[in-house]
Amino acid sequence: MKTSCLIRGLGHCVPETRLTNADLERMVDTTDEWITTRTGVKERRIAAKGETTVSLSHQAALKALENAGMQAEELTHILVATFTPDAYIPSSACMLSDRLGIAGRVCMDISAACSGFLYALETARAFVCLHPEARILVAATDIVSSRIDYTDRSICILFGDGAGAAIVTGSGAAPAAGGRVLDVLVSSNGGVNGLLTVKGGGSGTPYKPGETIRRDFFVEMNGREVFKYAVRNMTAICKTVLEKNGVSKEQVDVFIPHQANLRIIDAVGERMEVPPHKIFTNLQKYGNTSAASVIIAMSEARAEGFIKDGDLVLLGTFGGGFTWGSALVQF
Ligand code: ACO
Repeated sequence: MKTSCLIRGLGHCVPETRLTNADLERMVDTTDEWITTRTGVKERRIAAKGETTVSLSHQAALKALENAGMQAEELTHILVATFTPDAYIPSSACMLSDRLGIAGRVCMDISAACSGFLYALETARAFVCLHPEARILVAATDIVSSRIDYTDRSICILFGDGAGAAIVTGSGAAPAAGGRVLDVLVSSNGGVNGLLTVKGGGSGTPYKPGETIRRDFFVEMNGREVFKYAVRNMTAICKTVLEKNGVSKEQVDVFIPHQANLRIIDAVGERMEVPPHKIFTNLQKYGNTSAASVIIAMSEARAEGFIKDGDLVLLGTFGGGFTWGSALVQF
């Protein structure tokens, strides 16, 4: 087991605007029945004009700070996991620092698609090892709608927007509101090209002035293949984190998998032999919020009492890259 660190507070924020399956029936050739049976999603939240990765991260961060009983001035590091930053320069973390009214902090964005929160949490753990006094804001936010083609029925039904935040510090007395991060494992395979991409506008596929937007500007995915990789890799890394820490599947009180698709969650749950009543899902309400998915779910599960004091929580993620990860948090 690596050096443990603490999650002192959690918060999340989703846009007010709802995009329901009935709305999508009017936009593309689909049905509520198809979407529900294939994905489990009933509605998602979509950013209104002016709602951005930084503005949603700010709201989630304020809630996490309040939950931790801390002020923004106490923060030493700001990490933002996102594939939809407000801008390439400045980073969303720098912009978030400004919104919080602080400067002179370590600020950086982390790109690991839907595994972004666990990559950022692992980075926070590394900072805590280097600087035991660090007080780190880990935000994970995506405005996925900014990269969705709402004429593509195979993609637009899946995703929504949202933000989550955690305040991470070094070891010490376990906080009342949060939990102890026992371990984080993250991994990747960059060799599986083309199954899940957002390329347009990058230096590999730049846009010239006056050029119209191409398909590559939006999320492109081979859903069937992604499904198989997601089930296989999320299951494997969740089993590994349990084995590595000598934790049996029976000891897991709550399992929070990436909220991409109910069928993926069911398949992983079955392979993990974790009973459905221990698995928290909120994708019915939010769809797949990418980097924000597991942190929104953990924040909501804690606020609703699904995660109780003393519970051992297992997190699992899978995303573009491909990237995947797992973590154990003791509340
Ligand atoms: N409504 C109605 N029909 C549709 C829709 C829709 N919204 N989308 C696709 N179809 C049609 C297809 O055109 C196809 O029709 P055809 O048989 O006439 O060619 C048929 O439905 C089946 O299409 P498939 O893509 O094979 O459907 P599948 O059963 O695989 O379900 C889905 C598609 C839901 C995308 C599934 O593959 C999936 O969940 N994949 C995982 C995707 C995912 O969750 N990615 C995110 C994880 S990683 C991350 O979070 C970034």
